[in-house]
Amino acid sequence: MAASSNYVIEVRIDVLKTLKIAGLATGAIAAIGLGAYYFHQRTQRAKRVTFREEVKHILEPFQLTDEQLRRVMANLNTEMTNGLRSDDEREKNDLAMFPTYVHYGPSGQEIGEYLVVDLGGSNFRVSHVNIEGRNRIRLNNKIFLIPHSLLLGEGDKLFDYIAECLQRFIDDNKLALHKPAGYKFDLAFTFSFPCNQTSLRQARLVSWTKGFSCTGVVGNDVVLLLQQAIDRHKGLNIQVVALVNDTVGTLMACSSIYRDCKVGVILGTGYNACYFENIDNVPKWKGVRDQATKQIVINTEWGALGKHGCLDFIRTSVDRELDESSSTPNQQVFEKMISALYLGEIVRLIIVDLVQRSILLPGRMQKTPSLRSDYNIFLILRGSFYAKHVADIESDNTEDLSVTSSILTSIGIHDPSYDDCYLIREVCRTVSLRAAKLAAAAIAVLVNRLNQSSVTVGIDGTLFRHHEKFKKNLARTLSRLVPRTHRLVLSEDGSSKGSALVAAVDRRMRETGFSS
Ligand code: BGC
Repeated sequence: MAASSNYVIEVRIDVLKTLKIAGLATGAIAAIGLGAYYFHQRTQRAKRVTFREEVKHILEPFQLTDEQLRRVMANLNTEMTNGLRSDDEREKNDLAMFPTYVHYGPSGQEIGEYLVVDLGGSNFRVSHVNIEGRNRIRLNNKIFLIPHSLLLGEGDKLFDYIAECLQRFIDDNKLALHKPAGYKFDLAFTFSFPCNQTSLRQARLVSWTKGFSCTGVVGNDVVLLLQQAIDRHKGLNIQVVALVNDTVGTLMACSSIYRDCKVGVILGTGYNACYFENIDNVPKWKGVRDQATKQIVINTEWGALGKHGCLDFIRTSVDRELDESSSTPNQQVFEKMISALYLGEIVRLIIVDLVQRSILLPGRMQKTPSLRSDYNIFLILRGSFYAKHVADIESDNTEDLSVTSSILTSIGIHDPSYDDCYLIREVCRTVSLRAAKLAAAAIAVLVNRLNQSSVTVGIDGTLFRHHEKFKKNLARTLSRLVPRTHRLVLSEDGSSKGSALVAAVDRRMRETGFSS
């Protein structure tokens, strides 16, 4: 780390040693040195205060008060009610509030064997799930990398690749061995994008989110696209029996353990939630209304909040810049302030701003990319700072901020000073705290809407799972915003286990004469 004004203790010790060894004369010289040093310290400290004032000014719009959070809550609540009322585009609803055709949680009586394809987050996974009754579930899965080109290419190729991975998974695990001739696997498809469902097995993709943008998929039935790709693969005997959003999977997996679990949340690459709603509160529901379908799980797609301006009062210039340079401008406005895909980029944009103002890394901004190109790449390249960096830096409690320093060095910012590290940690803490507060405000709305004596919220996703400070801030803010009893529970492998449970519940209901 480069020399900095903050090594007061080290320097003092050196000076005392010098006094002992060299006697008075040297001591006098040292005293002069010490005086000069303290003078330097004072000027440095004064400079730091100026820095901090400016930084404060830049970070202030990110520091949300509870009053602002309550306004976000009120706006979200209104948009939820509007979304439940109608799908009419002219109504300019922010939230889709999709009915999912899931009416019941698991009873514990479900059994069966399922394949699950989970597409939509940082990973693409294939799982083999055995539900053994009494909610005992065995899961074996494999993560497959999706080549970046497939995320941006033709949809058919993406679905063909999924079918290929399924084939590989079945072969590697010898799943087809000992199966009777003509045996068909049931497959639940966890597809974590906004889909308008017309049944459990029909779902039209409304738009891509999270950086996916394959052609030929938006507007089409993704269950059909996957089934067609499977059928193109001779030898694959699979039928897709359910389409499930990752939040719904999370809710189902968690509600198999906690009876009062009525909310499922994903806080990862994207941000979204679903919950059990009374069918009477869903005027737009056109399906069956009877004793057996009193409730329905609603996929809120609340990441889209703000597309008609209801979050403008808290959006910063950085949020706008990030949004405008994204592949989906004016979409997923709320998600872009919270989820892991965007947290690092928000921090990076603030850092770039601070560098350009010579507050951070003063005198180090390279004018031409040919000098220290790696350093410039960090400053120029979108997406080069990750949520993981934010998490690690914000919890750096080392005395010399060595964790921050080595992270910065690893991404091309060489020899950052203590002050640089300190400022960057401050930026990470501020951005992450804002995200946690906003995430909590949204969950608070659902806990309030449910109006139960106690609510368990099942959560999965990298931010909740791995980002300790984020999780603490989320819980703390939620407790301030909702006095009701609630608990946040990590849902292990929820999106895969839960999707299998959705398929299993559906099978059980059909076998007992109910259909969804
Ligand atoms: C998608 C949701 C999904 C969430 C979490 C969002 O971008 O629109 O459908 O649940 O990410 O994966």
